[in-house]
Amino acid sequence: MIRVGVAGAAGRMGQAVCAAVEAADDLVLAARADPALGVELADILGDVDVVVDFTVPETALDNARACVRAGVHVVVGTTGWDPAQLTGESGGGNVFVAPNFAIGAVLMMQFAAQASKYMTKAEIIELHHDRKVDAPSGTAARTAALMDGEVPIHSVRLPGLVAHQEVILGDVGQTLTIRHDSTDRTSFMPGVLLAIRRVGSLTESPLVGLEHLL
Ligand SMILES: NC(=O)c1ccc[n+]([C@@H]2O[C@H](COP(=O)([O-])OP(=O)(O)OC[C@H]3O[C@@H](n4cnc5c(N)ncnc54)[C@H](O)[C@@H]3O)[C@@H](O)[C@H]2O)c1
Repeated sequence: MIRVGVAGAAGRMGQAVCAAVEAADDLVLAARADPALGVELADILGDVDVVVDFTVPETALDNARACVRAGVHVVVGTTGWDPAQLTGESGGGNVFVAPNFAIGAVLMMQFAAQASKYMTKAEIIELHHDRKVDAPSGTAARTAALMDGEVPIHSVRLPGLVAHQEVILGDVGQTLTIRHDSTDRTSFMPGVLLAIRRVGSLTESPLVGLEHLL
């Protein structure tokens, strides 16, 4: 049994992760950390094997460092920070980061990267709910980084949306649109559970991108 702690447990994603961990036979939800619950991450590190972090950009790096130094593996879904800042961090815990845990979004990124080798120009439109704090989204930034050429990103924030992205590629007399929609936060949970099960056996850390675990 893997003992899991969730940082950001009171948030939208954190609540979904807690429910998914509780429903998994091989995982135990050992602790929930969140200022909204009055529990600090430091208070739970002695009681867990893996931390899942869905918090805010300002705290993701410090949280990951605290986990690594405590010898606790950490799966980070928080976006809007740079995992490269963890390179060389030692202490025993592994770090796995994914800007998007939905399998369809991972495929969208791979298809977009492939298509960008053959079409002249591309732009990304990412659309999210209006309480998302970072822009552009981590998924859009990661997609652009994987694609050939400069890829401008346009961000839309509206109530009613969850997480959506279109990659539009243009060439002479034609366009190609690749679109992914997460209509519910359960779309991210199979990827999160996979990462929890695999983070302890990574040979590289920090490792970024769910595609490395598929
Ligand atoms: N990787 C993915 O697949 C994916 C999918 C959806 C959202 N996200 C990202 O996940 C993050 C969280 O999104 P959300 O919609 O759940 O946000 P949210 O605002 O609903 O929840 C964030 C929670 O983190 C808590 N928090 C703040 N500082 C903390 C700390 N130091 N320790 C512990 N908890 C702390 C807040 O109190 C809040 O409850 C965002 O960065 C978002 O972009 C990633």
